Amino acid sequence: MKYSKQIMGLGGTLFKLLSEGLGLKPNHLIDLECAEGLAMIFQYYPPCPEPELTIGAGKHSDNSFLTVLLQDQIGGLQVLYQNQWVDIPPTPGALIVNIGDFLQMMSNDKYKSIEHRVLSNRLGPRISVASFFTTGPRPSSKLYAPIQELLSEVNIPKYRAFTVKEYTDHFRNKGLNGVSPLLHFKL
Ligand code: OGA
Ligand code: NI
Repeated sequence: MKYSKQIMGLGGTLFKLLSEGLGLKPNHLIDLECAEGLAMIFQYYPPCPEPELTIGAGKHSDNSFLTVLLQDQIGGLQVLYQNQWVDIPPTPGALIVNIGDFLQMMSNDKYKSIEHRVLSNRLGPRISVASFFTTGPRPSSKLYAPIQELLSEVNIPKYRAFTVKEYTDHFRNKGLNGVSPLLHFKL
């Protein structure tokens, strides 16, 4: 409970910085209710005797506005950067912040929800705590879309409007098959 309160506080700061990064007033993303919900997943990856035969978590981007990840000292997290898997080595005391799919759509692709995965490991178990800023499957009719203030004749909307629930249902039904759920919402 204490950790989730700290993460909510950090989220407030991050959403302000991310709003400013888009040239908007600091409270813009908070006013759009991006910081309203936090879903925390505590993940346990058992040690694997034959890690080359499997994967810890398959390639995906996060179904959230923003994700704050805490990983332990085992390692295995990788991001896909310029078509190459790049290790994100554990750094004691550091948190990893990932843009989620909703923020990629709202920023009209200015912010990228990076694809990532977790390798299996002989060592372990590996533990991570992923804190997703999202209201998840909670029913809400609030529509999100590329932010009006960012759009112009040369920056036309790339995505249709969506509700968080609609996106989350699509993400869950599709499964982690390596296909980005963003495509389903592209105009
Ligand atoms: C996730 C995720 C990475 C990890 O939960 O979406 O990418 O290190 N987790 O467990
Ligand atoms: Ni993830």
